[in-house]
Amino acid sequence: MSAFVFTPENEEKFAALLQRYPQKSSLTLPSLWMVQYQEGFISEDAIVFLAKKLETTPMNIYSVASFYTMFNLKPVGKYHIQICKTLSCMLRGSQEIKKHIENRLGIKAGENTKDMKFTLTEVECLGSCGSAPCMSLNEAYKENLTIEKIDAILDSLA
Ligand code: FES
Repeated sequence: MSAFVFTPENEEKFAALLQRYPQKSSLTLPSLWMVQYQEGFISEDAIVFLAKKLETTPMNIYSVASFYTMFNLKPVGKYHIQICKTLSCMLRGSQEIKKHIENRLGIKAGENTKDMKFTLTEVECLGSCGSAPCMSLNEAYKENLTIEKIDAILDSLA
């Protein structure tokens, strides 16, 4: 397995960002986003790569990457469904919706479908409690979910 490196475009972006920050470690979050957009997740190779670039330790990079649930520490499917499990969504039926998605996809929360088309993850509050229950599908929020809405969404991705 080859070690992670930035694409030439990301190298350029990184060099440009470096001019704006006096401390290299301030680039940790933007660098993690670049890795995730490039690879889809934050691999161990990428953590070692970033630690060298940011002149810090792999543990520092890992501690940031693992603190934020928006960073994937393992590969995810083409469609990443992140369903909120916090109180407002739970009170408005998120558990039933989660079970329905699990049944439709044949996976449990935390798993990928075999074809890597879908990943289902349970997350804490997405900050959209007023439109509970909600989930994110890649970067788009899907709100006021019902079983019918979920079926329409999954049918459109089939
Ligand atoms: S509780 Fe689900 S978005 Fe806040």
